[in-house]
Amino acid sequence: MATAKLKIGRNELEIPIIKGTENEKALDISKLRASSGGIVTLDTGYKNTGATTSAITFLNGEEGILRYRGYPIEQLAEKSNFLEVAYLLINGELPTKKEFKDFEHEITTHTLVHEDIKKFLDAYPERTHPMGQLCAMICSLSAFYPESLNPYRSDEEINNTVIRLIAKMPTLVSWIHKRAKGHPAMYPDNSLGYCENFLKMFFGLPTEEYEVDPVIANAIDKLLILHADHEQNCSTSTVRIVGSSHATLYAAISAGISALWGPRHGGANQSVIEMLQNIQNDGGNLQKWLDKAKDKSDPFRLMGFGHRVYKNFDPRAKIIKKASDEVLKKLKIDDPLLNIAKRMEEAALKDEYFVKRKLYPNVDFYSGIIYKAIGFPTEMFTVLFALGRLPGWIAQWKEMMKDQQPIGRPRQIYIGENERKYTAISRRKKK
Ligand code: CMC
Repeated sequence: MATAKLKIGRNELEIPIIKGTENEKALDISKLRASSGGIVTLDTGYKNTGATTSAITFLNGEEGILRYRGYPIEQLAEKSNFLEVAYLLINGELPTKKEFKDFEHEITTHTLVHEDIKKFLDAYPERTHPMGQLCAMICSLSAFYPESLNPYRSDEEINNTVIRLIAKMPTLVSWIHKRAKGHPAMYPDNSLGYCENFLKMFFGLPTEEYEVDPVIANAIDKLLILHADHEQNCSTSTVRIVGSSHATLYAAISAGISALWGPRHGGANQSVIEMLQNIQNDGGNLQKWLDKAKDKSDPFRLMGFGHRVYKNFDPRAKIIKKASDEVLKKLKIDDPLLNIAKRMEEAALKDEYFVKRKLYPNVDFYSGIIYKAIGFPTEMFTVLFALGRLPGWIAQWKEMMKDQQPIGRPRQIYIGENERKYTAISRRKKK
């Protein structure tokens, strides 16, 4: 095994270098603290830290490569479907015909959620953000399935939780939306495919027939596939770290949804549309907004641009851009926001600031345009991201559990006050 040498004073340590199947290399510092007399590494934001080995998703940010279990994202987006990709991520292999049928059957027979969930939803103020409701609802499922709390759960119990999560999430998402609209909750139609059923529950009404447009169902299916996993991102790492305490999977997924909510992560898809609308309302002055994004004294960032790992292009953004053209054409929508987005992309890609920092459009830059064209409210965009990311979170949680990884517990370097004496309140002075 290759090693690296680390010299600390007179002490020389040999650090093993481990190599992944795609030739990625890492210094294995798992024994560093014990062998160096207490030295740890410091890497705020984990920019250089591999938190785990994983056999689920491969991502090469320099070359714009994304593969699930070895299969290129381009092939999966073109040829597969979301449920099949979910099976692949969670089980490691593409299903046979029978395995797929059984999996689909299990999902479609668990789509109902407990009626009492409606009471929770009824209690929320009208303007509650759907992401807040979704993470609460997912965590609340544990109340209906308390057996999931058992840390020594069987494989069968784990499988039940996995199936319930994938099956019930579309129902919960559509009920959150219906509640916000003041419309009656729609029940699942188990004769339909996963995306068709979701669209019917979301947009349909009990008073009229709802025919699912296959172009739209196909676009949603593709978007869910593109979002299904992305190795150790912020929400996935959150799922792993919460799961590492052996909390129920419902709690870990709920925590992942909370992490995804932020505008630097999945919340960016909502922020992109809001940004484009602001630019439009501001008269379409692109340069002004680009300058704002470059100004270090201004907290504004160009939403939908930049990525921690992709430093060339985001392969998901390429596929989504094409899909958004198709959906808009089919729906005969001429969205001026798309035009602003395209001009913005062009301008940023020529701008030295963005070129130098390798900031390219990411998955969130164009996804919102499709969601908007289909008729999803802006606040629902990140919820759709969560629906897609669910199988990835589950697969990563399962891998972490199977590998019996220890509880996630980073160290710190303390930079606060040294020991000092407690002073009585009467003797304290304002500093
Ligand atoms: N607009 C303006 N400047 C930016 C942007 C941006 N969107 N993104 C990064 N930068 C600058 C940043 O200020 C820094 O400049 P400098 O070196 O002069 O200090 C440099 O580029 C590197 O940025 P960073 O913040 O160190 O990079 P990071 O890897 O920590 O952050 C990111 C990645 C995605 C959080 C960031 O690019 C960002 O905030 N983008 C906008 C939000 C967004 O679109 N998020 C969706 C990410 S993709 C979907 C997902 O997986 O969640």
